[in-house]
Amino acid sequence: MCGIIGYCGPKPAAPILIEGLKRLEYRGYDSAGIAVGADGNLHVHKREGKLFRLRERVPEDLGGVWGIGHTRWATHGEVNDLNAHPHTDATNTIAVVHNGIIENFTSLKEKLQEEGYTFRTETDSEVIAHLIASLYDGDLETAVRQTVRLLKGTYGILAMHAAEPNVLVGARNGSPLVLGVGNDEMFMASDATALVAHTKQVVYIEDGELVKLTPKSYKTTDLRSREIDKKVDFISWELEEIEKGGFAHFMEKEILEQSESIKRAMQGRLDLEYGTGHLGGLNMANKELLEVERVKIIAAGTSLHAGMVAAYLLETVARIPAQAELASELRYRNPVVERNNIYFAVSQSGETADTLYAMRELKRKGARVLGICNVVGSTIPRESDGGVYIHSGPEIAVASTKAFTSQMTALYLFALIMARMRHMSLEHGLAFIKDLEQVPDLVARIVDRRGEIELLAKKYAHAGNFLFLGRGINYPVALEGALKLKEISYVHAEGYSAAEIKHGPIALINDDTPSFFVVPDNGLRDKVITNMKEVKARRGPVLALAVEGDREVAKIADDVFYVPPTHEYMYPFLMVVPFQLFAYYTAIELGRDVDQPRNLAKSVTVE
Ligand code: M6R
Repeated sequence: MCGIIGYCGPKPAAPILIEGLKRLEYRGYDSAGIAVGADGNLHVHKREGKLFRLRERVPEDLGGVWGIGHTRWATHGEVNDLNAHPHTDATNTIAVVHNGIIENFTSLKEKLQEEGYTFRTETDSEVIAHLIASLYDGDLETAVRQTVRLLKGTYGILAMHAAEPNVLVGARNGSPLVLGVGNDEMFMASDATALVAHTKQVVYIEDGELVKLTPKSYKTTDLRSREIDKKVDFISWELEEIEKGGFAHFMEKEILEQSESIKRAMQGRLDLEYGTGHLGGLNMANKELLEVERVKIIAAGTSLHAGMVAAYLLETVARIPAQAELASELRYRNPVVERNNIYFAVSQSGETADTLYAMRELKRKGARVLGICNVVGSTIPRESDGGVYIHSGPEIAVASTKAFTSQMTALYLFALIMARMRHMSLEHGLAFIKDLEQVPDLVARIVDRRGEIELLAKKYAHAGNFLFLGRGINYPVALEGALKLKEISYVHAEGYSAAEIKHGPIALINDDTPSFFVVPDNGLRDKVITNMKEVKARRGPVLALAVEGDREVAKIADDVFYVPPTHEYMYPFLMVVPFQLFAYYTAIELGRDVDQPRNLAKSVTVE
């Protein structure tokens, strides 16, 4: 969603701001803008559309060594130049960028209008600029503090004043802000990817905190002006990890990285002596884990699908009742929190509002909530009672791929721990580990044959609709296949349990609606084959992901992609990769913007 960047230091600000915005593009946006202070004035440039359009408008010799920038993902007001950030006060001396939603902006706006302030945009954010102006008495920090006390809702804010050169003031409530500490220069951003080209030293700003930056200093305070001592953290990943490195798209790079990222997710977490896993970050003693009677997983989108696979595994392998649920729904249904239940909040970004707010609601009710997250230092892991980082490295493409397989890996390890503490023997634990350890190589073998999937994608890209069908532990994989295809290729796709099609979706079958089946060699294989025949009998094109050696599938399906054999529990890893590749190549065939699909944001920080 929206992105924020700020700079103060000795260098020209505009190129640094635009480069920072470029790094934030992956979050999804529809307009962008910057404000740079020079010669006692603020120079504001903003434009609808992609960043190159803004770049065309910013003069080469803009001058100025401090400024703020923003990529906007519209919530209040349509996408146009005017509604883009930064927003300024009437005299153009204060500029503000804002992420989040100001819920009481209508009443604040009406009050300001009565006082004579004129609004130029339809946004909620503009109210912040006018409020600061109305409260400004020679000190930006104080005016911002007074302003945020009046705001209800979520915000990450960065503000500047023409009369206070090289000063930026930021404030956070619910929308991430991170400070980058450089040599005689300071940066501010909504996520660390915008900073890593300049510095690896960062300070995470928390809700209720305000920060004032100058090139050589930063001061963090709370809303009552009390100073807060902040720890400097270090970004552990390298700049190359957020660059394409020769790949056409981040999505391609991230799909291909999976054999490595799955390995990283299990690194140091396998206990080969006792055939179990080791997840120290859970902050739970074995005795407490033994008392767990139910596991609930909350998440959104792809992370939910990873949670659904894990829930299936937890029940079958560890024999613990487990359930994955949409975080957005759980939050508003007044969930019953039972003693001896534990919750996992699964989120790549660690910032998804639906998941975060559901987690807070659960915690208010006394639940123990653990995080399964990728982005280190993000809000969910910081607010959870413990958890596991999946260590996928930055995931830049909007469509989540490597995070999915790493989330599953972490949850598989948890299932193994729980199973070993209950009935699973050492021998079976060791066998489970062996199967899991083989997954990265099997994924690499699939990825090496991506040319076959590319041909399939070319053949079917122009179909009107798709069904993705799987059963059991592979049912969520079918859901994920459909989600991947629709989000980046804009082709309508639905995921179902293969058993379910006869209850409705089969009515959709025609020669322009291919059905893509997941056919592993497990106990449900024959049932799925029956469903394939039902589609075939109605002249629907049939594609299948099947296991090497399964010739019967080839006799029914129009096209088959074979995956290597593995243990039945490991197929979700092997089946999802061809689906990711299929979506990727279909999107390319249709000329879509693969990494930044329309209307989507990488990290969905509003409800
Ligand atoms: O960062 P999160 O894992 O919490 O994000 C959840 C969803 O927004 C995300 O998985 C979304 O569905 C992706 N676009 C899927 O590719």
